[in-house]
Amino acid sequence: MKKRALSGIKPTGNLHLGNYLGAVKGFLDLQADKEVDNFYFIADYHALNGVPNPQDLRDRTLHIFKALISLGLDPEQSTIFVQSDIPEHVELCWLLTGLTPVGLMERAHAYKDAIAHIKNPNMGLLCYPILQAADILIYDPQWVPVGADQKQHIEISRDLAEKFNRIYGETFIVPDPLIKEDLAIIPGTDGEKMSKSKNNVIQIFGTEKEIKAQIMSIQTDSTPLEEPKDFDACHIYNIYKYFATPTELTKMQDNYRGGNYGYGHAKLALLEKLLEYFAPARQRMDELDKNEDEVRLLMKKGAEKARGRAQKKIQQVRKAMGLGEFYA
Ligand code: TYM
Repeated sequence: MKKRALSGIKPTGNLHLGNYLGAVKGFLDLQADKEVDNFYFIADYHALNGVPNPQDLRDRTLHIFKALISLGLDPEQSTIFVQSDIPEHVELCWLLTGLTPVGLMERAHAYKDAIAHIKNPNMGLLCYPILQAADILIYDPQWVPVGADQKQHIEISRDLAEKFNRIYGETFIVPDPLIKEDLAIIPGTDGEKMSKSKNNVIQIFGTEKEIKAQIMSIQTDSTPLEEPKDFDACHIYNIYKYFATPTELTKMQDNYRGGNYGYGHAKLALLEKLLEYFAPARQRMDELDKNEDEVRLLMKKGAEKARGRAQKKIQQVRKAMGLGEFYA
C-alpha cells in the first residue's frame, strides 16, 4: 500500500520564503516519489481565530492554492484542497475535544506565544491544535512534512491518536513529522523566524517592487562599506545561501571577506537571485491569475477527492465512539 503524506498552510498572508523552504519544497520531494499518496490543503478554518475580513480570507485562500500549483504541486498527482470544503475536519475536531486535557492546550508553545501579546484570546486559539490533529488524523497519513515550528502540533496529534486508539480500538495511524533539519527555521528580514504574523517576510509572488522593498528592509549592522563583513552573521547572506549555487556562494563569501562590498550590493544580488529562481513559478502564477475558472474547477476536484476519504474515516470514528447507527 502507498504511504500517505499530508500537510496544510494557513491563509493568513501570502506565501513566503519560509513556507516554501520549510514546507512546500518537502511536498514537492514527496510528490516526486511515486510510492507516496499526497494530500495538501489550505487551512482556512485555522485562519478564523484571527477574525479576518471575509473577502481577504477568500483572496488569500485562492492565492495559496494557486501558489502551490505554481510552485509545482500537480493536482493530477497530489490531492490539493481547501479545508473548509471538508466540514468533517470540524466534526472530528469536536470528537477529539473530549480526549484533550485543557492543560495540554494551555501549555502549547504557539498558544503561549500568542497570549503573550493578545489580551483576550479566543477559544479558536486554544483549540487550534485539536483542529490540526483532526486535519491530520482524518486522512491517516504516515508523514506530515512541516517546518520546525509545527513540531509540537504534530506531537499533540500523535498523543491524541494514541489515546483514541487505546480507548476505542485501533482507528488512527500515529503520524510522524517530516522536518528537514537544514530548512527547519528560515529567518526573516529581522533575523527572527520568517512569519506571516510578523512584518518580516519576503513574498514569492509579490510584484518586483514589493519583493525589492522587502529585501531592502533586511536589517544589517553598520560595518562601513570598505571593511570586511561577517557573512555568517548577516541576514541577507542567511537567506541568499538557500538559493545560490556553491560557486555563487563562494563568490558571495569572498565579496564579504574582501571589503568594498556593501549590504546594498548583497541585497541586489539576493533580489536578482530570487527573481531568477522563482521566474517559472511566477510565470505560472500569472497564467493561473488569467484562468481563475480553471483554478476553481481544480479546487472542486481536489475537494471531492479529499471529502470521499474524510467521510469514510468519520463513519469509522463515529461507529467506534457509539454515535449514530440507529437507522439502516
Ligand atoms: P503555517 O501556515 O504557519 O506555515 C505553513 C508551513 O510553512 C512552515 N513555515 C516555516 N518553515 C521554516 N521556516 C519558517 N520561517 C517557516 N514559516 C512557516 C510551517 O512550519 C508549515 O509547515 N498550523 C499550520 C497549518 C496547519 C497544518 C495542519 C500543518 C493546519 N493544519 C495539519 C500540517 C498538518 C500553520 O499554521 O502553518
